[in-house]
Amino acid sequence: MQSLPGFRDFLPNDCAARNYIFARWREVCRRYGFVEWDGPVLEPTDLYKKKSGPEIVAQLFSFTDKGEREVAMRPELTPTLARVIAAHEREFKKPLKWFSIPQCFRYEKQQRGRLREHFQLNCDIIGDQSSGADVELIALCIDLLREVGLAADDFVVRISDRAAWDRFLPDCGIGPEKKADFLNVIDKLDREEVEKIQPKLELFGVSVARLMAFLANANLEWFAPLREQLETRDLLRYCEFNLRIVRGLAYYTGVVFEVFDRPRKFRAIAGGGRYDTLIHQLSDGAVDFPAVGFAMGDVVLGELIKEVPSARKKMEEAIQWQHDLQIYAVIAKEERRPDALQLIQTLRDNGYRVDYSLTPAKVGKQFQTAEQLGARLAVLFGDEWPQLKLKDLCTGDQSLVPREELPARVATLLSSRA
Ligand code: HAM
Repeated sequence: MQSLPGFRDFLPNDCAARNYIFARWREVCRRYGFVEWDGPVLEPTDLYKKKSGPEIVAQLFSFTDKGEREVAMRPELTPTLARVIAAHEREFKKPLKWFSIPQCFRYEKQQRGRLREHFQLNCDIIGDQSSGADVELIALCIDLLREVGLAADDFVVRISDRAAWDRFLPDCGIGPEKKADFLNVIDKLDREEVEKIQPKLELFGVSVARLMAFLANANLEWFAPLREQLETRDLLRYCEFNLRIVRGLAYYTGVVFEVFDRPRKFRAIAGGGRYDTLIHQLSDGAVDFPAVGFAMGDVVLGELIKEVPSARKKMEEAIQWQHDLQIYAVIAKEERRPDALQLIQTLRDNGYRVDYSLTPAKVGKQFQTAEQLGARLAVLFGDEWPQLKLKDLCTGDQSLVPREELPARVATLLSSRA
């Protein structure tokens, strides 16, 4: 039996890589004053039908539960966040700065960097409509990537603003009912030839020349406040401004951004934007808060880390550290097993990572296992009892230690080699 297409088994090394990414994410989010929360994996299908937009709805893992409810496994977290905020907003002082690491499910065509499940770091600020909040999130996103060893040569944050199109469309006589279709054409501008775009634009009564003139002017002036704040933080070199980016999700209302690897080998590493009306809509008008956020996926980030040597080295060292044992207890005489277990317990109580053979084994085999497990020290329980032979597996140095002095001696050796 194989796992389903697009679903991953996490073997120990994969789990260690995942833990590494999650740990860096949590560390940086806390540095920015964000607190962690979570929601349910299963939600009413309607939540996404109403809020996420047709692309995600077509990818839902949805079914009827035993209580005849139409339910879906979460494809993203933002609708859940809006629902939770609408229900609990009185309990918290605004602005809220929340992060979460949900596993999300989308029935997509499986390829490198795109699976049917992925983990997503979500970071959102609720209750602040300043451009300062937008920039705070862009800065957080950049710092998350720098933290894993990626630099300005490796990724770019492409920033746009849907509000600019809200100005342009009425000027061209395009009504709100046609906005989504028009933005769909804009979304493909970077990828399609002008000859292909022209007839599509003409359907909306817009000429290529008019569109290009708008882009040239608006790109310059529209982003001045963001540009200035990013410059102050010395983050401008990570960013590009481009109104052609509109993003697929239906609920964005203002600034939107996406992060890509510079060579564009992968799908987006992260994406987000402002969704100032979503909470209002979900609470049927009872609650109204501006909001802005983004999500970063573990799949693309993991692929990119493997591509960039400095980032890969950082991750490999961290993984090694997660696996490495500090002490292996070698039980040379079976009658010493109870004494060994007592001392192993004491060492573990002191916080050391300790292992030993659960069944009798030859001494040479036990030393071999100690090395395979990356143990730094081996403690031999044998003829020398009540003394123990302590061996440094890196240097080969050996010494005899009275059993009651073992914890102190281990502490000295491990700290001197840290
Ligand atoms: P999104 O752009 O749909 O945004 O997803 C965010 C990130 O999740 C993507 O950039 C990508 O790295 C990762 N991702 C999405 N789908 C897959 C997949 N099938 N396989 C692997 N990785 C994937 C959102 O989900 C918004 N809710 C983000 C947001 C938060 N906006 C405001 N707050």
